[in-house]
Amino acid sequence: MCGIIGICAIKRNVAPMISLGLKRLEYRGYDSVGVALVLNESRVHVLKARGDVDSFLSRFKVSEFKAYTGLGHTRWATHGAPSDVNAHPHTDCSGRIAVVHNGVIRNFSIIKSILEVRGHRITSETDTELIAHLIEDEIPFSSNFFEAFIRAISRLEGSYALAIINSSEPNKVYFARLKSPLVLGLGDGFNIIASDIPAVIEYTRRVLTLEDGEVGWITPTEVKLFKLTDDGIAEVKYESIMSRVRFIEWSFEEATRLGYPHFMLKEIVEQPNAIKSTYDGNIDDPIVKLAASLLNEANHIVLVGAGTSYHASLIISYFLSKIAKIKSTPLIASEYKVVEDSISREDVILAVSQSGETYDTLEAIRAFKSRGAKVIGITNVVGSALSRESDIAIYMRCGPEIGVAATKTYTSQIMVGSILAIYSAIENKSLDNSSTRNLIDDLSKASDILGLSIKTSLSILNDSPLRGIKSMYILGRGLGSMIAKEASLKVKEIAYIHAESYPAGESKHGPIALVEEKFPVYFIATSDSLEIIGNIMEMASRGASIVVVKPENVNLNISSSHSINVVDMPPVNSLLLEPYTLIPYFQLLAYKEAVARGYNPDKPRNLAKTVTVE
Ligand code: G6P
Repeated sequence: MCGIIGICAIKRNVAPMISLGLKRLEYRGYDSVGVALVLNESRVHVLKARGDVDSFLSRFKVSEFKAYTGLGHTRWATHGAPSDVNAHPHTDCSGRIAVVHNGVIRNFSIIKSILEVRGHRITSETDTELIAHLIEDEIPFSSNFFEAFIRAISRLEGSYALAIINSSEPNKVYFARLKSPLVLGLGDGFNIIASDIPAVIEYTRRVLTLEDGEVGWITPTEVKLFKLTDDGIAEVKYESIMSRVRFIEWSFEEATRLGYPHFMLKEIVEQPNAIKSTYDGNIDDPIVKLAASLLNEANHIVLVGAGTSYHASLIISYFLSKIAKIKSTPLIASEYKVVEDSISREDVILAVSQSGETYDTLEAIRAFKSRGAKVIGITNVVGSALSRESDIAIYMRCGPEIGVAATKTYTSQIMVGSILAIYSAIENKSLDNSSTRNLIDDLSKASDILGLSIKTSLSILNDSPLRGIKSMYILGRGLGSMIAKEASLKVKEIAYIHAESYPAGESKHGPIALVEEKFPVYFIATSDSLEIIGNIMEMASRGASIVVVKPENVNLNISSSHSINVVDMPPVNSLLLEPYTLIPYFQLLAYKEAVARGYNPDKPRNLAKTVTVE
């Protein structure tokens, strides 16, 4: 996945606008960067290099160029290694057409062979470059550039968000979207096309989310939009475009670091406010109640999510069972085929995705929908593909998350799932009125608990809490085992430490073989699984170096004969609140260790925030 931006303006230099847009899109990929500027009508000026946005912008002094139309791209490599030549934008043989792309062209090998036979000089290993040559190839058979563009993209299979410039039309940016996100920012004397809203809100808050199959162009003062269908191409009327324009309420400051050294730290620390907003926005929302009745009608419920969202799905599934006595199956989204054949119209899919654009999650819901299942989407992004393709969309409302490692959206997803579980229990009467009130009251304390837990964690964790550690286990039972999965993902993805997580009861079936003197094992103890003490003791007897993290009021009777480090987090009186008291310790553990090791936690290697490829 990658970030793309295209801008055209009158009387306004787009070079600094593109530069800033690239900074805002860097979370989508950062292995190489490039811009294309229309400096005159004979060719497009392309600058590109392997590396991150800051080094690129200062090396090429991009903001000092002067242009009224241009493109920008920040890359997360799929086809072709990260390198100068594979960086976008890509051009055709004439150097007049430049393309930036987010997505994957599946039939690229066949297109490449055809283009080579027709004499095109392909210089990179990317699928994107082929698009520039395809358009060039179609020009002689088309009455204008737009027609050539449409003919070219009709030959593509896969996914794309595209922005294209052509030096012969110096004030236009062409675009198209299929299965990769794309938004339009409407300005005064300029228009912007970009992968995501943070790239445009510095300049305009009037934003329209494009849909699959939409193509068109922008000029500084005009937007032309068309829908590609099996029957041809139909223009979208101006009134219809305008009716889809949204005013973005959240401020640019909310999406910036506000003095914190990293987005990740800012987002960990702002969890109390984020979760409060999730709670306030959903606790009485009729949409959540509607979703709860759909869950109660379902024959079978499958939860799908990727990465952190999958880990939140595990907890949501657990709470649906514990509170509402509803059975569900949590599934890693990319493994949806495991249950696909058994899905029918009586089933409900609960898809969890912060961005609402994760390819694997969208593929899963599309496959299940085609078998008649209903979809409930839990997402943070209004207008995302998940929100549009769900029968019911529930919003996390926790504000934009920029750090690649998800933190506040994890706790927010658990909050949404907990509210959903409570309403499902009210609907099927597995909870009486007073128990319901108690649980709702418990949840209202999540924000304070998170605040206390963050404070406690910051006061205990030193600057390099995992100093020298190369490999470790993070274990739990019940709820603790689910939180442990997220804890180990955080440690892996930003501190680059092999942190393995499995349910603690499994140690004796294999993994304990690795344990020797001083092998680090963290346990997450939750009130539903006090029997974890047995697993702690079996590790202690083999000399493991043990840290037990638990809510203060969970009493394990740990024998003092073993030197076990116990970390007490703020006490909570409800299982529903235990994720909020336990996870901040691990988010901050990973964060502090990453920083101590000299890694940038906002840009973990090989990862990106929104994964729009399979
Ligand atoms: C990427 C991110 C993870 C995220 C996952 C799912 O892998 O690096 O932090 O949890 O995608 O993203 P989603 O937007 O669907 O929640």
